[in-house]
Amino acid sequence: MKGLHNCINFILLLYLYGICTTQLLINVKNQGGDIFLETITSNVTEDVITLEFQRSDGTLVTQLIDFRNEVQIIKVLVLGEEERGQNQYQVMCFVNHFYKMDFISSDAMSKLRQKNPGTIRVAEEDKGYMNYTMDLFVDVSKSPIISKHVATFCSDALETTFTRNEDLKQWVQRPGTSESLLMAAVHNFTLSSVPRHGENTTRSTSLTKCADTSNFRASCSCSLELCIGWYPCGLKFCKSKNDGKKVASTYRCGIKTCKRYFLFSYYSKMKQNCLWDE
Ligand SMILES: *[C@@H]1O[C@H](CO)[C@@H](O)[C@H](O)[C@H]1NC(C)=O
Ligand SMILES: *[C@@H]1O[C@H](CO)[C@@H](O)[C@H](O)[C@H]1NC(C)=O
Ligand SMILES: *[C@@H]1O[C@H](CO)[C@@H](O)[C@H](O)[C@H]1NC(C)=O
Repeated sequence: MKGLHNCINFILLLYLYGICTTQLLINVKNQGGDIFLETITSNVTEDVITLEFQRSDGTLVTQLIDFRNEVQIIKVLVLGEEERGQNQYQVMCFVNHFYKMDFISSDAMSKLRQKNPGTIRVAEEDKGYMNYTMDLFVDVSKSPIISKHVATFCSDALETTFTRNEDLKQWVQRPGTSESLLMAAVHNFTLSSVPRHGENTTRSTSLTKCADTSNFRASCSCSLELCIGWYPCGLKFCKSKNDGKKVASTYRCGIKTCKRYFLFSYYSKMKQNCLWDE
């Protein structure tokens, strides 16, 4: 009975004419009991899904998935504490490789309707942490080789758009992707200004954690944690009992829902921009 109930929470419409962009508004309850509104938009023509929500501390999180290019962009707009000398807000863009099967397709997304739009939803499955240590800057003006959406989406994060060497290795395998253009669109962190002699550490750990320095002007490695509290991570199949037939057939009848935590470590020009990391 419970399985049946799950199945009818969301329905996938099989036939939809003349609509290529759809929006779903979801009320999500997180672990702390906060309820917030998530907006999920899909554009089938572009094969793109965007998911957006605002945290109770005002932080605006937007995730864009470009399925065609296997790219996920997470943009985070953090409000500043002006009384502590910060800017009004800062924007960071994290650009990573994305596996298609981690989200339902933009096509399935566009056909999704909820039975009771006001319902407060909790994800069925906890996908745990994805920890990304960003070790490359993205030159936004050269980013179309990664995804054309980076330039439009991250236009207010020109100096704070990041990716990883690991992600480049995945994208270089995409058919038609030029390795030289890809390499030209990024650059390694230059940490030469902060040489640390006598330490046998790797590049990413040689930058002090913001939490470990008391110098507000020092550059450091900032950690930012966020949680996508609810997203459709797969399709659900129901069994139909065919009277008279022994074998039951299955059909797509709804979605599986997940939540996921992200932990981004990235270069911060000064500790001042990373005051939450204490
Ligand atoms: C969806 O993508 C198409 C093709 O690029 C574009 O023309 C359209 O404006 C997009 N729709 C929305 C709502 O962004
Ligand atoms: C990712 O970060 C979280 C939070 O600090 C930590 O609990 C978890 O063990 C980390 N996972 C991995 C695989 O490093
Ligand atoms: C960045 O530096 C690492 C280590 O030196 C190197 O392996 C990698 O190819 C560099 N990446 C780019 C894009 O230059």
